[in-house]
Amino acid sequence: MKKLFYIIEKIIRIIKIRVKNKLRYHWMMKQKCLVDPAESKRPKYWKKCGVEVKGKFKVGADVYFDAGNAERIHIEEGVWIASRCLFLCHKRNLSEYKYGDDYNKTSYKYGDIYLKKGCCIGMGTIVMPGVTIGEGSVIAAGSVVTRDIPPYCIAAGNPAKIVKVLPDTNGSARTLV
Ligand SMILES: CC(C)(COP(=O)(O)OP(=O)(O)OC[C@H]1O[C@@H](n2cnc3c(N)ncnc32)[C@H](O)[C@@H]1OP(=O)(O)O)[C@@H](O)C(=O)NCCC(=O)NCCS
Repeated sequence: MKKLFYIIEKIIRIIKIRVKNKLRYHWMMKQKCLVDPAESKRPKYWKKCGVEVKGKFKVGADVYFDAGNAERIHIEEGVWIASRCLFLCHKRNLSEYKYGDDYNKTSYKYGDIYLKKGCCIGMGTIVMPGVTIGEGSVIAAGSVVTRDIPPYCIAAGNPAKIVKVLPDTNGSARTLV
């Protein structure tokens, strides 16, 4: 009998923790705070937050995306995002920022981020507003991507530059147009 009570108590405790976690998760989503769910749940969570998702994709741990502008992020099938990346969809409009102005009163400009089919974003990369990363391209770990990257290229550095244009299937070199 004592054992039965112990088991029931344990089950109730587990249920309580799960309900509490679920409630916290939904509350945080409403507040547009970012949480980092288990790996298998991340794509679904991104979608729920408003990211436009076409097909399956993978996200590593501790990736930050512009939660307030999540609908500006567009992800295609087979995209792979390594841990600790950062996706920004807004920045201040510095063209109107003059001597003596209050930076905090400067307006924002926004830009959509497109991660095309099968591209891979290396660990710790920062992707700036308005950037498109082409199909099959690989971004080196720790890069800062400020300009569009064409399909099937390797780009690295801050700001990210193309370090390699991947060859055709028959091995012949490709030229970018
Ligand atoms: C960029 C990358 C794809 C290149 O892979 P690779 O072809 O095997 O590259 P190599 O190690 O032969 O390096 C090729 C050149 O790129 C440079 N390079 C490699 N990684 C770099 C990086 N993260 N940033 C800047 N330059 C880099 C190397 O210094 C080398 O330059 P050099 O030819 O002037 O000496 C790889 O280094 C990388 O960053 N992959 C992402 C890894 C990652 O984030 N994994 C997530 C966890 S699984």
